[in-house]
Amino acid sequence: MPGPTAAQPPVGIDLGTTYSVVAYLDDSGRPTTLPNGSGELLTASALLFDADDVVVGREAVRGSIMDPDSFAECFKRDVGSSVYHRKVRGVDVPPEVFSALILERLRQDAERRLGPVRQAVITVPAFFDETRRKATQEAGRLAGLEVLDIINEPTAAAVAYGYQHGFFHPVQGAVEAEPRRVLVYDLGGGTFDVTILEISGHRFRALATDGDVRLGGKDFDERLVDHAAGQFAAEHGLDPRSDAQDAAQLWQDIQEAKHTLSERQRAVVMVVHAGIRMRIEVTRQLFEELGRDLLRRTENTTVQVVREAGLQWSDIERVLLVGGSSRMPMVAEMLQRVTGKEPDRTASPDEAVAHGAALYAAMLANQGAPAGLARCELLNVNSHSLGVVGMNTKTRRRQNVVIIPKNTPIPCSVARTFQTARHGQRNVVVAIVEGESHRPEECIALGHCIVRDLPPDLPQGTQVRVEYQYAANGRISVLARVPAVRQSAQVEIQREPGRDLEDLDTWRARLRGAGCAAGSSSSSAAPIDLNDRSSVLRRLDALYTLVGQAAVSESLPSSLSGSQQAARAAAAALEKAQAALHAAAAAKESAAGTGEAVRYGSELARAKTAHDQALTQSDFAHLILGRECTAAAVDLPILRQVGPEIDLLKRHSKHSP
Ligand SMILES: Nc1ncnc2c1ncn2[C@@H]1O[C@H](COP(=O)(O)OP(=O)(O)OP(=O)(O)O)[C@@H](O)[C@H]1O
Ligand SMILES: [Mg+2]
Repeated sequence: MPGPTAAQPPVGIDLGTTYSVVAYLDDSGRPTTLPNGSGELLTASALLFDADDVVVGREAVRGSIMDPDSFAECFKRDVGSSVYHRKVRGVDVPPEVFSALILERLRQDAERRLGPVRQAVITVPAFFDETRRKATQEAGRLAGLEVLDIINEPTAAAVAYGYQHGFFHPVQGAVEAEPRRVLVYDLGGGTFDVTILEISGHRFRALATDGDVRLGGKDFDERLVDHAAGQFAAEHGLDPRSDAQDAAQLWQDIQEAKHTLSERQRAVVMVVHAGIRMRIEVTRQLFEELGRDLLRRTENTTVQVVREAGLQWSDIERVLLVGGSSRMPMVAEMLQRVTGKEPDRTASPDEAVAHGAALYAAMLANQGAPAGLARCELLNVNSHSLGVVGMNTKTRRRQNVVIIPKNTPIPCSVARTFQTARHGQRNVVVAIVEGESHRPEECIALGHCIVRDLPPDLPQGTQVRVEYQYAANGRISVLARVPAVRQSAQVEIQREPGRDLEDLDTWRARLRGAGCAAGSSSSSAAPIDLNDRSSVLRRLDALYTLVGQAAVSESLPSSLSGSQQAARAAAAALEKAQAALHAAAAAKESAAGTGEAVRYGSELARAKTAHDQALTQSDFAHLILGRECTAAAVDLPILRQVGPEIDLLKRHSKHSP
């Protein structure tokens, strides 16, 4: 460990869907991966909770087979949603809390080598939208890190590539200025990203980016799991996925078989369920057929991104393979066929992103220091279009009008003029959304900009000028003006903490609690021990949920209308999912023959998962509403009833261990 006077190096963290990696620059300025407490370079992004501990990484994956209800993985896919897609130990948990627990462990493991670590750059898929970036930054904060910046994963990989090939040096700066265009194809565990960058020395300019936040190794695993389960069901009439432990074991064995298929032509999986063992052999050819459409999706996106950059394949010098799933031989074969070039595998697909982040972190941390490191210049494009919601005068429907199309180089600013919809309009509300669809409900709402108290009698069709500014760091600000009356309003949409999340100790306490099986949090009748913080927090959550359920149909102050609407929408989605589940169950009942039963069985399993997710979302939305109603001391009969108990519990939630 360095002495107390040594400057603490910042770290770069690749927070992956399936594996995370931390790196820093060693004394010679070389990016170096830091092993975790068990000596591994990759830490599985997985968590297992028990009565007294949080287990992180490979041990969590191992233990998950015995206790799937206490296990959380793949939460990066849920980042940006209010809550992880299912309850863990009966608790609804925001996905960034799980991310924060991983980051905290990575930080602690890094500290064993480096001493206290505070500053970090965290990577995100280029295709992450504003909400997901914000949530990632919040996870870093919860984990006790100062997040110097968020950097796109493909850009980080390109920075590592630029360093590795001597285009620049973190101390000496740009070495070579000849621009080179590279395409980064990053297929990880849960996300797919493709970006074209132009590298000129230490200048990295993204030309176009695209991707899919729900496409990765897990989807290829799922194809094999479905295949193996189908074979088992055809032979024995039973679905091994119906048992959570058997399903967890199957997923693990399938992933290993998939890795084997990258080296060999065949692999064997042993499926065990209901006391039956069945040996299933899979060939590489069959696996490639099962995943063909997934690979095709990455191919289409790759071709599309080259088109969007206005380039030909001959304009691109290198195709870099990044992400563990790029090891599947079908990936390199496809890219070779499409591009006519041999893909570049010189970078470590697992470490390149973290190394790039570490290089960037070191440059940011030393910015302005006399003997400072050269600064990388990162020029990005926006990965999602930005628009405002306007009224289509012909159809009288609300419509997203794109103002900054995706893949526009940032920083940029654009202005557009709209018109007031009716005579005498007193306020103009500009709703700002992110997304490609014309339908606002299919886009992500970023915020509102309201020009208030306009003079009466403004004619219909008065001009409203909306200016968007997209800063280099991804920060968006919007100015709406009504020039006729010189009134304006501005909003800045920042990657600031989006919501008030409790600290990690509180979440750990909530998730601890022995014997807290799924669903127990909603029981308010069970006795609780006031000295046990875990059960106090759970009871509090259950009471807040009750309050939320009662408040959803009440008339509430306008400050609570957002949460009330969210709870209503979640309840409506749950009702729909319930109907779909009943329909799927009825279809399975009436199935004729084994083939139909297996097919309907899979549909039923999907409907069940969708239902459970909707239930989780609905419970959480009611909990939030209940908490807000309690904090605002809304006059509700239910609060008069449970308010004193909530006060008592709140006092104990702070003091008990
Ligand atoms: N030899 C291999 N053959 C096939 N797939 C592999 C191989 N090695 C790793 N993988 C897959 O790569 C994925 C993990 O890759 P990686 O660590 O790059 O993803 P991640 O960073 O966790 O995810 P993301 O970047 O999507 O957030 C897993 O799905 C894993 O099964
Ligand atoms: Mg990754």
